[in-house]
Amino acid sequence: VIDIRKLYAGSGKFTYDPGFMSTAACNSSITYIDGDKGELLYRGYPIEQLAVNADFMESCYLLLNGELPNAAQKAKFVDTVTKHTMVHEQMQFFFRGFRRDAHPMSVLVGTVGALASFYHDSLDINDPRHREVSAIRLIAKMPTLVAMTYKYSVGQPFVYPRNDLSYSANFMHMMFANPCEEYKVNDVLVRALDRILILHADHEQNASTSTVRLAGSSGANPFACIAAGIACLWGPAHGGANEAALNMLKEIGTVENIPAFIEQVKDKNSGVKLMGFGHRVYKNFDPRAKLMRETCYEVLQELGLQDDPLFKLAMELEKIALNDEYFVSRKLYPNVDFYSGIVQSALGIPVSLFTGIFAMARTIGWIAQWNEMIADPEQKIGRPRQLFVGSTTREVLPLDKR
Ligand code: ACO
Repeated sequence: VIDIRKLYAGSGKFTYDPGFMSTAACNSSITYIDGDKGELLYRGYPIEQLAVNADFMESCYLLLNGELPNAAQKAKFVDTVTKHTMVHEQMQFFFRGFRRDAHPMSVLVGTVGALASFYHDSLDINDPRHREVSAIRLIAKMPTLVAMTYKYSVGQPFVYPRNDLSYSANFMHMMFANPCEEYKVNDVLVRALDRILILHADHEQNASTSTVRLAGSSGANPFACIAAGIACLWGPAHGGANEAALNMLKEIGTVENIPAFIEQVKDKNSGVKLMGFGHRVYKNFDPRAKLMRETCYEVLQELGLQDDPLFKLAMELEKIALNDEYFVSRKLYPNVDFYSGIVQSALGIPVSLFTGIFAMARTIGWIAQWNEMIADPEQKIGRPRQLFVGSTTREVLPLDKR
């Protein structure tokens, strides 16, 4: 690792690195990825172990505080988060200003950004307690806002949080209960959602996290920074991939159509990609994809959908791609989104809300990274350089002379 700042200090030189392929913009002790080994660690703990031996609340505590909680610490943390699950009643009016068919991500960018105007008591970002309460508010309120987005889109009344339920069960309740019917908690489904949240909780300096850091580097309000992260996550090359992957499976339709689709993907002029495949960092299997495939199987089993045609299609597509020279030579493997769409669909979550669920999970990663950045004495405002390729100085002629 070369510290370019010291190497080039005062020389006027800088590096050109589109897409930050070779540039680290910060120090971080939160998440470690070894893309070649297919390894993902939160604060040193392998994702495979966290997915089995911890829940999402414990993972949140870990990402935020650096250590897994003991039982007493967990109980206190869960209690604090639970007390912040309600959103201000005025927030309803924000929702009512949107069209019912608005994309959930546009609603979330707006409503999460709007939280900034409600919490004037947590605005001193240099105070660690203020940062902590902002983090808790965000983790607690995201499920409420995501579920409100859904309820508004289908024209049902908003469902208030239930503080006797776990984080994930409460989300399912706010999504699927209505005045005529309670949500009956299904442990397998709740656990599957919890696993989705754990697997998506953080992924070091991906595009949306870098966006949150860049926005936050100016000292901006944390709720506004998270709204910026949500905007970035929306793109199909990032969080929108699970939605795109499921739509792709539906378009392919049947196993017989896979070879023709693969040929289309291999034709660079087609502009078609195999969604849910490939990753900037993982050049081996995405460890989250393995866990998600396992969860997918469990959920379909629980719901009696083992023969689900989309799941079978996904399995076959994966098999064919993993044996195809195009994908092998480019080290393109399934990423977490290849299977998460099928799981979410089975849970009853509409396709357009998939990226919203991702945002709900990633909020802890974003706010933990933001918190780490603000506390870092080396932190500076993010200000990339550019390689200017435009015109040199020229004269502005009056309108009648142009
Ligand atoms: N289908 C077909 N070809 C692909 C795919 C794909 N999914 N992904 C990469 N390639 C090809 C590229 O065309 C390129 O080929 P070339 O060497 O002949 O030019 C080669 O593989 C290298 O790909 P890059 O685009 O350079 O890889 P990069 O690291 O920039 O992109 C990305 C990574 C954006 C994730 C890409 O693989 C992609 O678009 N995948 C599909 C979308 C997706 O699933 N995104 C989810 C990412 S995970 C997440 O956000 C949780």
